[in-house]
Amino acid sequence: PEVRRQDYAPPAWWIDTVDLTFDLDPAKTRVLNKMRLRRNPDVPVQPLRLDGDSLNLARVLVNGQGASFKLEGQQLVLSQLPEGDEAVELEIFTTCQPEKNTLLSGLFVSQGTFFTQCEAEGFRRITYFLDRPDVMSIYSVTLRASKAAYPVLLSNGNLVEQGDLDDGRHFARWHDPFRKPSYLFALVAGTLVAREQAIRARNGKEHLLQVYVRPGDLEKTEHAMQSLIASIVWDETRFGLPLDLDRFMIVATSDFNMGAMENKGLNIFNTKFVLASQATATDVDFANVESVVGHEYFHNWTGNRITCRDWFQLSLKEGLTVFRDQEFSMDMAGSASARAVKRIEDVRLLRTVQFAEDAGPQAHPVRPDAYQEINNFYTVTIYEKGAEVVRMMHTLVGEAGFQRGMKLYFERHDGQAVTCDDFAQAIADANPDSPLAQHLEPFKRWYSQAGTPHVHASGHYDSEQQTYTLHLTQSLTAPPGQPDRQAAVIPVKLGLLQADGQPVPLWLQTDDGEQDCGHEHTLVLHQSEQRITFGRIPQPPVPSLLRSFSAPVVLHQSLDDDALETLLQHDSDPFNRWEAGQQWAQRVMLEAIRQPHTEATDAPARLPERLVAALRQILREPQLDAAFKDLVLTLPSENYLAEQLDTVDPQRIHAVRQSLQQQLAQALHDDWRTLWEQHHDTGAYRPDAHSSGRRALAGKALFMLCLHASHTGEGIWPGKAYQQSKDANNMTDRFNALLALVHTHQPLAEAALARFHQQFHNEALVLDKWFSLQASVPDRQGDILPAVQQLMQHPDFTLKNPNRARSLIFTLCNANPAAFHRADGAGYQFWADQVIALNGLNAQVAARLARSLDAWRKLAEPYRSHANAALQRVASQKNLSKDVREIIEKSRT
Ligand code: ARG
Ligand code: ZN
Repeated sequence: PEVRRQDYAPPAWWIDTVDLTFDLDPAKTRVLNKMRLRRNPDVPVQPLRLDGDSLNLARVLVNGQGASFKLEGQQLVLSQLPEGDEAVELEIFTTCQPEKNTLLSGLFVSQGTFFTQCEAEGFRRITYFLDRPDVMSIYSVTLRASKAAYPVLLSNGNLVEQGDLDDGRHFARWHDPFRKPSYLFALVAGTLVAREQAIRARNGKEHLLQVYVRPGDLEKTEHAMQSLIASIVWDETRFGLPLDLDRFMIVATSDFNMGAMENKGLNIFNTKFVLASQATATDVDFANVESVVGHEYFHNWTGNRITCRDWFQLSLKEGLTVFRDQEFSMDMAGSASARAVKRIEDVRLLRTVQFAEDAGPQAHPVRPDAYQEINNFYTVTIYEKGAEVVRMMHTLVGEAGFQRGMKLYFERHDGQAVTCDDFAQAIADANPDSPLAQHLEPFKRWYSQAGTPHVHASGHYDSEQQTYTLHLTQSLTAPPGQPDRQAAVIPVKLGLLQADGQPVPLWLQTDDGEQDCGHEHTLVLHQSEQRITFGRIPQPPVPSLLRSFSAPVVLHQSLDDDALETLLQHDSDPFNRWEAGQQWAQRVMLEAIRQPHTEATDAPARLPERLVAALRQILREPQLDAAFKDLVLTLPSENYLAEQLDTVDPQRIHAVRQSLQQQLAQALHDDWRTLWEQHHDTGAYRPDAHSSGRRALAGKALFMLCLHASHTGEGIWPGKAYQQSKDANNMTDRFNALLALVHTHQPLAEAALARFHQQFHNEALVLDKWFSLQASVPDRQGDILPAVQQLMQHPDFTLKNPNRARSLIFTLCNANPAAFHRADGAGYQFWADQVIALNGLNAQVAARLARSLDAWRKLAEPYRSHANAALQRVASQKNLSKDVREIIEKSRT
């Protein structure tokens, strides 16, 4: 049942127009679909095969007449259609059952309101269609429903007519002037209220912006609206891309598989990425709302105006749009160091989750070659690695060159469904003298080769010649049985520092003399091995390589403590300052993890004085942003450390990290107190980058102070944390206090959690935090799994709501290694139970959870055997969805 990229064939038919009429009823919705089709003259004459899924077919008319058809599997096949290139009118009448739709794909009901989710292949659950992105049509949509139950009726485009019908029903008719693929279709019907804003664009055009939510949530929509306005302004200013619609709508639903969906003119969002208020949302939530609103809005051009030819090209729209939303967030953050903070966060996600994916059983190229279930390919590789590929192009052609490339991309392809090759070609063609154009074919291996390249760097200083030579090699090993990998094109942004931290001027030695490179140079590594030499270097320098993480690779270089300290204290590239600290801490931790020990929890890890001193200096540097300090003082995560090891003992990793954390708390105790005093009062609440950073650092300080207190038995700081968990005027401070308590002081944590529940039991998104926090508590004596099992019996818990399921189950299985990886295997048994339960309810969510054991082969015993048994149990289930089956099969091979 595998779909292969090489099998792509253009459609035999085009659908020029679609006229849909819905009689909306939760039990049985009737859908009348009138299409005008014509044969694709470039393709031999073939029957029309329309996709369908879980539909009840009532009638088929061809040019107004009854016609013969058959059902083959899920497809509706018409083989007797007139030949020739005359248009054909096809009328199909079906029904579906939205209230029974727990997959949340197609048409479903959430809290009494109808929503749709059609990407990737949900439209076929609404009507028979050529449900593939290269078939683009003009849609007209009529919605009919009870006026009392569904006062708001929305679809894509412009509202052209509305009015009352008999029997208390009413209707609305919508027309979308833009051709679009079926995955961008949407409808919403229910009781909703909207925040509205009229804006005038640069060209004088008026637009109506609306954010629709359930009554009662309106006051939580201001940030989403501000983010939407900022997105519109940003896309126009930085990319020259204006809003092309009269009306742009965002609608929030609490039952949603993903973050949000870019349906043309009618974006549908998970409430998590729309609703935000000081009282209920953290700074991270506010930032996520801004970023996701931006992401979906930017899809209007990169995704909707130019879409994907087939689903193998998914990264064409997702990689590019993630790149754009990352840049948007950076531009919104403002200062250079705030930009760096965002970059560090993005890289952290990439290296922890995407590098792991690329090294495990679900590894796939940015442009995959085959899939069983496309929904399994909405991955960090397609999104985040895809964004890095776009970022490298940006680096290779520069900002002005990239904008030229985007312009050419739209000139060539606006209104089309295209491929990743088309995109790369446009960027390169607009910059014929760039290294991208020079190395385009090998560069495109980033799309075709899975796996993370490793780059080894070593430097040689020649005191006689006063030269410094860097020697770089790259390698990418293919899994057994796959063809050898070829060299990638890797932009390595670099600088050199003197031992005292001063930047070294770069005089690049070339065949015809010397080239002045200022203080930074981008080396384009395109062979498996390259050398580069700089002259006029009076002393051995410290190399600062891969600045701002200029390529998604693993860099190996053996820097000693002196070099790391120089970089951490002085590098002009803030990313590499952070990176030096991480490398240093990582080395200490990995050494300790590998040390001989009897019990996994023996933790003789010692935090070196020198590293402590260097970190202290960072904390005391007045010019540095609080957010940056917080990141530098965050030790590499357990999941990231696991990724660095060939054999993973999760309890050992946990013990070592906990021990170092404890030492950081103690060794920097006075600094934590000072930082707390300086930062905990952030004044009137504003979720901007600067004040968020202050709250983050104050939160870290409070955590460290409570951690230290938990060892000395002293009660002041836990008391303060408890107070803050009660009295904070914003959710960030409140949550950070709670977090400190659940990690360090069980009795107060229990009291604070009970209070928190009482206060927020009517706020679904806050309850998610409450569940999630309890599933993230570090394991003491195997007590967390039973606590989670207990919480599943809580009246507020339900597996049916994806956010709620994620908050409890995914947090335990993905974000709390020490509680999940139990020596008795009970964590894996729990995981198997939940995958099986979700499989019957919501295959997409189940398939996500199924990935928690991706890295099981690297686990030490007894974990590995237990994990294998759990995987086997899932695999042996009879009614496994193809989503879950694909994941489990790959995990087991
Ligand atoms: N295109 C949406 C977004 O980026 C995600 C939709 C995912 N849908 C799915 N069925 N996997 O932003
Ligand atoms: Zn997207």
